[in-house]
Amino acid sequence: MFNKFKRWKDKSDSITEDEIVKGQIPNHIAIIMDGNGRWAKKRSLPRTAGHHEGMKVVKRITKVANRLGVKTLTVYAFSTENWKRPEDEVSYLLKLPQEFLGTFLPELIEENVQVRIMGNKDAIPAHTLNAVEKAVNDTKDNTGLILNFALNYGGRAEIIQAVNSIVGDYKAGSLKDEIDENKFSSYLMSNGLSDPDLLIRTSGEIRLSNFMLWQLAYTEFWFTDVLWPDFREQHLIEAIYAFQKRGRRFGGI
Ligand code: IPE
Ligand code: IPE
Ligand code: MG
Repeated sequence: MFNKFKRWKDKSDSITEDEIVKGQIPNHIAIIMDGNGRWAKKRSLPRTAGHHEGMKVVKRITKVANRLGVKTLTVYAFSTENWKRPEDEVSYLLKLPQEFLGTFLPELIEENVQVRIMGNKDAIPAHTLNAVEKAVNDTKDNTGLILNFALNYGGRAEIIQAVNSIVGDYKAGSLKDEIDENKFSSYLMSNGLSDPDLLIRTSGEIRLSNFMLWQLAYTEFWFTDVLWPDFREQHLIEAIYAFQKRGRRFGGI
Protein backbone atom coordinates (compact mmCIF):
# COMPACT_ATOMS: atom_id res chain seq x y z
CA MET A 1 0.00 0.00 0.00
CA PHE A 2 2.77 2.36 1.01
CA ASN A 3 4.76 1.55 -2.11
CA LYS A 4 1.78 2.02 -4.32
CA PHE A 5 1.15 5.44 -2.76
CA LYS A 6 4.80 6.35 -3.06
CA ARG A 7 4.89 5.36 -6.72
CA TRP A 8 1.84 7.50 -7.35
CA LYS A 9 3.45 10.41 -5.55
CA ASP A 10 6.62 10.07 -7.60
CA LYS A 11 4.53 9.87 -10.71
CA SER A 12 2.43 12.92 -9.87
CA ASP A 13 5.56 15.07 -9.62
CA SER A 14 6.39 14.41 -13.23
CA ILE A 15 2.98 14.51 -14.91
CA THR A 16 3.08 16.24 -18.24
CA GLU A 17 0.28 17.90 -20.13
CA ASP A 18 0.20 14.93 -22.57
CA GLU A 19 -0.88 12.65 -19.75
CA ILE A 20 -4.10 14.48 -18.99
CA VAL A 21 -7.14 13.51 -21.01
CA LYS A 22 -8.16 16.50 -23.12
CA GLY A 23 -11.80 15.44 -23.28
CA GLN A 24 -12.06 15.25 -19.48
CA ILE A 25 -10.86 18.63 -18.32
CA PRO A 26 -12.90 19.82 -15.31
CA ASN A 27 -15.44 22.37 -16.50
CA HIS A 28 -15.22 24.51 -13.41
CA ILE A 29 -12.14 24.80 -11.20
CA ALA A 30 -12.34 26.78 -7.97
CA ILE A 31 -9.17 27.83 -6.15
CA ILE A 32 -8.58 28.92 -2.57
CA MET A 33 -5.36 30.82 -3.19
CA ASP A 34 -3.67 30.58 0.20
CA GLY A 35 -0.17 31.08 1.55
CA ASN A 36 0.79 34.52 0.25
CA GLY A 37 1.69 35.74 3.74
CA ARG A 38 3.88 32.73 4.51
CA TRP A 39 5.59 33.03 1.13
CA ALA A 40 6.54 36.62 1.97
CA LYS A 41 7.58 35.78 5.52
CA LYS A 42 9.99 33.10 4.26
CA ARG A 43 11.70 35.85 2.27
CA SER A 44 11.54 38.47 5.05
CA LEU A 45 9.23 40.55 2.88
CA PRO A 46 6.02 42.32 3.94
CA ARG A 47 2.85 40.22 3.51
CA THR A 48 1.73 42.57 0.75
CA ALA A 49 4.68 41.40 -1.38
CA GLY A 50 3.20 37.91 -1.20
CA HIS A 51 -0.17 39.20 -2.35
CA HIS A 52 1.47 41.01 -5.27
CA GLU A 53 3.29 37.85 -6.31
CA GLY A 54 0.04 35.92 -5.91
CA MET A 55 -1.67 38.30 -8.33
CA LYS A 56 0.92 37.46 -10.98
CA VAL A 57 0.14 33.79 -10.49
CA VAL A 58 -3.57 34.46 -11.14
CA LYS A 59 -2.56 35.87 -14.53
CA ARG A 60 -0.46 32.84 -15.43
CA ILE A 61 -2.97 30.27 -14.25
CA THR A 62 -5.86 32.03 -16.02
CA LYS A 63 -3.99 31.71 -19.31
CA VAL A 64 -3.12 28.06 -18.73
CA ALA A 65 -6.66 27.16 -17.67
CA ASN A 66 -8.05 28.90 -20.75
CA ARG A 67 -5.62 27.06 -22.99
CA LEU A 68 -6.51 23.70 -21.42
CA GLY A 69 -10.20 24.30 -22.08
CA VAL A 70 -11.42 24.97 -18.53
CA LYS A 71 -14.77 26.76 -18.83
CA THR A 72 -14.87 28.53 -15.46
CA LEU A 73 -12.11 29.46 -13.05
CA THR A 74 -13.28 30.83 -9.71
CA VAL A 75 -10.61 32.40 -7.53
CA TYR A 76 -11.09 33.27 -3.86
CA ALA A 77 -9.49 36.70 -3.64
CA PHE A 78 -10.97 38.16 -0.43
CA SER A 79 -13.28 36.56 2.11
CA THR A 80 -15.87 38.16 4.36
CA GLU A 81 -13.57 37.09 7.22
CA ASN A 82 -10.48 38.81 5.77
CA TRP A 83 -11.74 42.14 7.17
CA LYS A 84 -10.20 40.95 10.46
CA ARG A 85 -6.72 41.65 9.06
CA PRO A 86 -4.78 44.87 9.71
CA GLU A 87 -6.25 47.83 7.84
CA ASP A 88 -3.25 48.35 5.55
CA GLU A 89 -3.33 44.72 4.42
CA VAL A 90 -7.09 44.88 3.79
CA SER A 91 -6.75 48.03 1.73
CA TYR A 92 -3.87 46.52 -0.25
CA LEU A 93 -5.85 43.36 -0.98
CA LEU A 94 -8.86 45.37 -2.09
CA LYS A 95 -6.72 47.49 -4.40
CA LEU A 96 -5.15 44.50 -6.15
CA PRO A 97 -8.04 43.70 -8.53
CA GLN A 98 -7.68 47.20 -9.95
CA GLU A 99 -3.98 46.70 -10.59
CA PHE A 100 -4.61 43.22 -11.98
CA LEU A 101 -7.23 44.47 -14.42
CA GLY A 102 -5.30 47.66 -15.20
CA THR A 103 -2.46 45.65 -16.66
CA PHE A 104 -4.20 42.47 -17.72
CA LEU A 105 -7.62 43.48 -19.09
CA PRO A 106 -6.45 44.03 -22.70
CA GLU A 107 -4.91 40.56 -22.66
CA LEU A 108 -8.05 39.05 -21.14
CA ILE A 109 -10.09 40.63 -23.91
CA GLU A 110 -7.67 39.33 -26.51
CA GLU A 111 -7.94 35.84 -25.01
CA ASN A 112 -11.76 35.98 -25.10
CA VAL A 113 -12.01 35.69 -21.27
CA GLN A 114 -15.21 36.79 -19.56
CA VAL A 115 -14.74 38.42 -16.13
CA ARG A 116 -17.32 37.92 -13.39
CA ILE A 117 -17.48 38.81 -9.74
CA MET A 118 -19.28 37.30 -6.76
CA GLY A 119 -19.38 38.79 -3.29
CA ASN A 120 -20.94 41.57 -1.31
CA LYS A 121 -20.32 44.64 -3.44
CA ASP A 122 -21.50 47.18 -0.84
CA ALA A 123 -18.27 47.14 1.14
CA ILE A 124 -15.88 46.99 -1.82
CA PRO A 125 -14.14 50.38 -2.26
CA ALA A 126 -15.55 52.37 -5.20
CA HIS A 127 -12.27 52.49 -7.15
CA THR A 128 -12.03 48.69 -7.10
CA LEU A 129 -15.69 48.10 -7.83
CA ASN A 130 -15.56 50.50 -10.80
CA ALA A 131 -12.54 48.72 -12.25
CA VAL A 132 -14.12 45.30 -11.80
CA GLU A 133 -17.48 46.36 -13.20
CA LYS A 134 -15.79 47.91 -16.20
CA ALA A 135 -14.00 44.62 -16.81
CA VAL A 136 -17.24 42.67 -16.38
CA ASN A 137 -18.93 44.97 -18.86
CA ASP A 138 -16.06 45.03 -21.37
CA THR A 139 -15.88 41.23 -21.43
CA LYS A 140 -19.56 40.30 -21.12
CA ASP A 141 -19.85 39.04 -24.70
CA ASN A 142 -16.65 36.99 -24.57
CA THR A 143 -17.14 33.27 -24.99
CA GLY A 144 -13.88 31.81 -23.62
CA LEU A 145 -12.97 31.05 -20.03
CA ILE A 146 -15.09 32.70 -17.33
CA LEU A 147 -12.76 34.19 -14.72
CA ASN A 148 -14.91 34.56 -11.63
CA PHE A 149 -13.49 36.62 -8.77
CA ALA A 150 -14.82 35.85 -5.30
CA LEU A 151 -14.28 39.24 -3.73
CA ASN A 152 -15.65 40.06 -0.29
CA TYR A 153 -17.29 36.67 -0.62
CA GLY A 154 -18.51 34.31 2.10
CA GLY A 155 -20.49 31.12 1.58
CA ARG A 156 -22.78 31.70 4.55
CA ALA A 157 -23.42 35.33 3.66
CA GLU A 158 -24.27 34.21 0.14
CA ILE A 159 -26.83 31.69 1.39
CA ILE A 160 -28.40 34.21 3.79
CA GLN A 161 -28.58 36.78 1.01
CA ALA A 162 -30.34 34.22 -1.20
CA VAL A 163 -32.85 33.41 1.54
CA ASN A 164 -33.62 37.09 2.06
CA SER A 165 -34.13 37.63 -1.68
CA ILE A 166 -36.45 34.63 -1.82
CA VAL A 167 -38.48 35.94 1.11
CA GLY A 168 -38.61 39.37 -0.56
CA ASP A 169 -39.81 37.91 -3.86
CA TYR A 170 -42.52 35.90 -2.08
CA LYS A 171 -43.75 38.99 -0.29
CA ALA A 172 -43.71 41.00 -3.51
CA GLY A 173 -45.66 38.24 -5.24
CA SER A 174 -43.09 37.69 -7.97
CA LEU A 175 -42.30 34.22 -6.60
CA LYS A 176 -45.11 31.73 -6.02
CA ASP A 177 -43.65 28.28 -6.66
CA GLU A 178 -42.02 26.05 -4.10
CA ILE A 179 -38.24 26.36 -3.97
CA ASP A 180 -36.24 23.44 -5.33
CA GLU A 181 -32.45 23.08 -5.62
CA ASN A 182 -32.31 24.67 -9.06
CA LYS A 183 -34.44 27.60 -8.02
CA PHE A 184 -32.36 28.11 -4.89
CA SER A 185 -29.11 28.00 -6.90
CA SER A 186 -30.46 30.74 -9.14
CA TYR A 187 -30.55 33.08 -6.12
CA LEU A 188 -26.88 32.47 -5.35
CA MET A 189 -24.09 34.74 -6.59
CA SER A 190 -22.87 31.90 -8.81
CA ASN A 191 -26.14 31.95 -10.75
CA GLY A 192 -25.55 30.66 -14.27
CA LEU A 193 -22.28 28.89 -13.45
CA SER A 194 -22.01 25.12 -13.08
CA ASP A 195 -20.89 23.82 -9.68
CA PRO A 196 -17.11 23.44 -9.36
CA ASP A 197 -15.82 20.02 -10.44
CA LEU A 198 -12.45 20.53 -8.81
CA LEU A 199 -11.46 22.58 -5.77
CA ILE A 200 -7.79 23.39 -5.25
CA ARG A 201 -6.43 24.81 -2.01
CA THR A 202 -2.79 25.73 -1.68
CA SER A 203 -0.56 26.20 1.39
CA GLY A 204 -1.36 22.97 3.24
CA GLU A 205 -4.54 24.12 5.00
CA ILE A 206 -7.29 21.50 4.77
CA ARG A 207 -10.45 23.54 5.19
CA LEU A 208 -13.01 25.47 3.19
CA SER A 209 -12.81 28.81 5.03
CA ASN A 210 -16.42 29.62 4.12
CA PHE A 211 -15.97 29.10 0.38
CA MET A 212 -18.88 28.06 -1.88
CA LEU A 213 -20.57 25.96 0.79
CA TRP A 214 -23.59 25.12 -1.36
CA GLN A 215 -21.79 24.68 -4.67
CA LEU A 216 -19.05 22.34 -3.39
CA ALA A 217 -21.49 19.58 -2.38
CA TYR A 218 -20.05 17.08 -4.90
CA THR A 219 -16.77 18.73 -5.88
CA GLU A 220 -13.48 16.79 -5.90
CA PHE A 221 -10.95 18.36 -3.50
CA TRP A 222 -7.22 18.64 -4.14
CA PHE A 223 -4.87 20.05 -1.53
CA THR A 224 -1.21 20.93 -1.89
CA ASP A 225 1.47 22.30 0.43
CA VAL A 226 2.66 24.62 -2.35
CA LEU A 227 2.16 28.27 -1.39
CA TRP A 228 0.03 30.23 -3.87
CA PRO A 229 2.88 32.48 -5.17
CA ASP A 230 4.80 29.27 -6.00
CA PHE A 231 1.86 27.64 -7.82
CA ARG A 232 2.67 26.94 -11.47
CA GLU A 233 1.22 25.32 -14.55
CA GLN A 234 2.78 22.01 -13.46
CA HIS A 235 0.71 22.02 -10.24
CA LEU A 236 -2.50 22.70 -12.14
CA ILE A 237 -1.70 19.80 -14.42
CA GLU A 238 -1.04 17.55 -11.40
CA ALA A 239 -4.40 18.56 -9.90
CA ILE A 240 -6.23 17.83 -13.15
CA TYR A 241 -4.40 14.51 -13.48
CA ALA A 242 -5.46 13.54 -9.94
CA PHE A 243 -9.03 14.67 -10.72
CA GLN A 244 -9.13 12.42 -13.77
CA LYS A 245 -8.13 9.41 -11.63
CA ARG A 246 -11.07 9.89 -9.27
CA GLY A 247 -14.28 7.88 -9.59
CA ARG A 248 -17.11 10.39 -9.30
CA ARG A 249 -20.26 8.51 -8.29
CA PHE A 250 -22.56 11.27 -7.04
CA GLY A 251 -24.11 8.72 -4.68
CA GLY A 252 -24.56 6.08 -7.36
CA ILE A 253 -22.46 2.96 -7.83
C1 IPE B 1 -4.07 34.12 0.76
O1 IPE B 1 -2.88 34.23 1.44
C2 IPE B 1 -4.61 35.45 0.31
C3 IPE B 1 -5.80 35.89 1.05
C4 IPE B 1 -6.36 35.26 2.03
C5 IPE B 1 -6.39 37.12 0.63
P1 IPE B 1 -2.81 34.59 2.98
O2 IPE B 1 -2.69 36.06 3.12
O3 IPE B 1 -3.94 33.98 3.73
O4 IPE B 1 -1.46 33.90 3.37
P2 IPE B 1 -1.14 33.10 4.69
O5 IPE B 1 -2.19 32.05 4.84
O6 IPE B 1 -1.16 34.08 5.81
O7 IPE B 1 0.22 32.53 4.45
C1 IPE C 1 -9.15 31.92 2.63
O1 IPE C 1 -7.87 32.05 3.14
C2 IPE C 1 -9.59 33.16 1.93
C3 IPE C 1 -8.92 33.46 0.67
C4 IPE C 1 -8.03 32.71 0.07
C5 IPE C 1 -9.33 34.69 0.04
P1 IPE C 1 -7.59 32.54 4.62
O2 IPE C 1 -6.12 32.52 4.80
O3 IPE C 1 -8.30 33.80 4.89
O4 IPE C 1 -8.29 31.39 5.47
P2 IPE C 1 -8.03 30.89 6.96
O5 IPE C 1 -8.06 32.10 7.85
O6 IPE C 1 -6.70 30.23 6.96
O7 IPE C 1 -9.13 29.92 7.23
MG1 MG D 1 -4.19 32.22 4.63
